[in-house]
Amino acid sequence: MRVAKAGVVGAGTMGSAIAEVLAYNGIEVVLKDVDAALVEKGLGKVRAIVDELVRFQEARAPKEIERITELAGELSEGQRAKVTAKLAPKFTRARGDEVVARVRGTTDYSDFRDVDLVIEAVFEEYSVKRPVLEALDAAIPDYAVLGSNTSSLSITRLARGLKHVRETLVVHFFNPPYTLPLVEVAGGIETREDVVTDTVDFLQGLKNHRYPLVPIRVKESPAFVVNRLLAPVLAEACAALESGLASSRDIDAAMKAGAGMPMGPFELADLVGLDVSLEVAETLYREFGDPKFRPSLTLRRLVDAGHLGRKTGQGFYEYAGT
Ligand SMILES: NC(=O)c1ccc[n+]([C@@H]2O[C@H](COP(=O)([O-])OP(=O)(O)OC[C@H]3O[C@@H](n4cnc5c(N)ncnc54)[C@H](O)[C@@H]3O)[C@@H](O)[C@H]2O)c1
Repeated sequence: MRVAKAGVVGAGTMGSAIAEVLAYNGIEVVLKDVDAALVEKGLGKVRAIVDELVRFQEARAPKEIERITELAGELSEGQRAKVTAKLAPKFTRARGDEVVARVRGTTDYSDFRDVDLVIEAVFEEYSVKRPVLEALDAAIPDYAVLGSNTSSLSITRLARGLKHVRETLVVHFFNPPYTLPLVEVAGGIETREDVVTDTVDFLQGLKNHRYPLVPIRVKESPAFVVNRLLAPVLAEACAALESGLASSRDIDAAMKAGAGMPMGPFELADLVGLDVSLEVAETLYREFGDPKFRPSLTLRRLVDAGHLGRKTGQGFYEYAGT
């Protein structure tokens, strides 16, 4: 599958970051949201993601010089030059500008008329996603692949009756896609086998800021692998918190220090977004009917209050400056 131009719909947390990953790999991207202000916000996120990488790369040599100076005293001009040359940014400002320039914003579906692949990343609700998929179905060429970043909805139901029903599949990235390489790929009942395998092959050839992407093929099943396992962990962490077993900080600390997890369940939920976590848990509970997936009251009340995690500045924790 050759992807010269891709489309992304929904310029939020995931859509902008997916657009950045595609552009980072040399693909032209059209990024759509509902109005110009949201598109601009999304393009700003793309710029911010790229800037972070440029700053990280530019800081490598000065940081190393500072580290050596602290350990062994001042370096000579020659030694400084050597470190600076060795740790010269692999990803320069100029390359960053090229990546940003590859992402073009739009509010118009007609800009998707020549895409090879489009990924929708709008709100996790059937009633929002379905009209977007219908509009894309009419806008994209016959040969194009229609991907959904849904975390938990049925792709078979989302794609039912579309002209592209056989070219529609789940392409589920993780947050943030520029550092987390996993992509869960799942076809629906009608999806063509070659569309699934070609998409996996295509993703296998991409890299994010840290790693080559790791696409895995999964069956169409609510929440796939990662969220299916994480949802009961968050539910149990909330139950532990509600019962007064320990504070949220200590529960997170316990899972990091005792289970080797890089983030605790509450920190992770705040990063993912509590609305997304709730939606995933509700879908799993509804689909499997198993109480282990039942979302906790604490999670519900936080979402009711609009405390959605990092993106709103408050969730299980408070975040300054968001
Ligand atoms: N946040 C995560 O950690 C995460 C991880 C993996 C997958 N997902 C999935 O990605 C999708 C998006 O999640 P998010 O966290 O980026 O949400 P978000 O709320 O940050 O962004 C959604 C964006 O979609 C836009 N949108 C809504 N309706 C639209 C329409 N009709 N046309 C165009 N744009 C529209 C919104 O304006 C918003 O900018 C969801 O399906 C979610 O389940 C999220």
